[in-house]
Amino acid sequence: MKIKGKAYRTIWLAPDGWSVEVIDQTRLPHEFSVIPLKSAEDAARAILSMQVRGAPLIGATAAYGLAMAIRQDASDEAIDKAVEFLAKQRPTAINLRWALEEMRRAVQNLPREERVAAAYKRAADICDEDVETCRLIGVHGKALIDDIARTKGNGEKIEVLTHCNAGWLACVDWGTATSPIYQAHDAGVPLHVWVDETRPRNQGASLTAYELGSHGVPHTIVVDNAGGHLMQHGKVDLVIVGTDRVAANGDVANKIGTYLKALAAKDNNVPFYVALPHSTIDWALQEGLSIPIEERSADEVLKMPGRLADGSVVTVEIAAPGSPAGNPAFDVTPARLVTGFITERGVCPATREGLLSLYPERAGE
Ligand code: MRU
Repeated sequence: MKIKGKAYRTIWLAPDGWSVEVIDQTRLPHEFSVIPLKSAEDAARAILSMQVRGAPLIGATAAYGLAMAIRQDASDEAIDKAVEFLAKQRPTAINLRWALEEMRRAVQNLPREERVAAAYKRAADICDEDVETCRLIGVHGKALIDDIARTKGNGEKIEVLTHCNAGWLACVDWGTATSPIYQAHDAGVPLHVWVDETRPRNQGASLTAYELGSHGVPHTIVVDNAGGHLMQHGKVDLVIVGTDRVAANGDVANKIGTYLKALAAKDNNVPFYVALPHSTIDWALQEGLSIPIEERSADEVLKMPGRLADGSVVTVEIAAPGSPAGNPAFDVTPARLVTGFITERGVCPATREGLLSLYPERAGE
């Protein structure tokens, strides 16, 4: 996507041909800055600190992190160690483990001297495949938006609500939940997006709004608790969110608060779609409540960063001093609340059968 007229992906190989560069998302929306990652340790730190975040992007970053580790030591033991080290940085998004296993598979049967080139090739392919996957999610999701536009008629605006950031910043390009929005907008479909601010880290207010604004998509930031009210008043035609892991039965883990949006959507007959690439499906997990939920620092709840009038960025305390805070980063939306999945292979019901209709090769797992 373009920032100030220049096209960016979220991760790319540096001119040296072996390290990578990423956009530091902890500095957005106030500052667009690029940081180098020169080792598996750098990649792990960027994932843990959320300089890179979003399920597909942490997978892509870990893939390059592992390639850099293999460049240092291509032995089986070193690769196993690096895989475990990178995988433990964030537990909920399955894309992280998926990307690392893809990398391991790409090198494990090769002689050591061929492993570095093969690792960099697979990491680059993971990135390119993510771009194409997200583009296709957009094609299928746009068809849903077109249907709603036809039903509404009269060139009326389509009102979409989204939670957190499942945009191009969370992927390599396009995004999952935002790809249909970008493609509909680019095709001239009139739409407007309600952007949940997404406490505690405000990925909606700081990242999704930044993305949509940079692309000229009309949008409004709302507090996380506004969704139910907007739906009750007929102001939402469609909810589209991303996901960090989908269990084989269709249960969906996504940013904390997604479940409440799905409940409100069900109560108000608003279609609730989840956009995802195949790498987000955990075929080994039978139901969503066994998905590990990341518990993050209480500081994210008790403090908030912001920019002062003089341009400096500071963090302020916002809670009663001494009060403890809990910070589960994700929740699980039961499949029964999900209208459907938007994938790179098409749209399907949020059930095991629905998923298998698009991925028949996974039957029997
Ligand atoms: O904690 P984050 O910012 O990594 O959480 C991101 C989300 O919850 C996204 O919705 C999810 O990763 C899907 S990204 C296409």
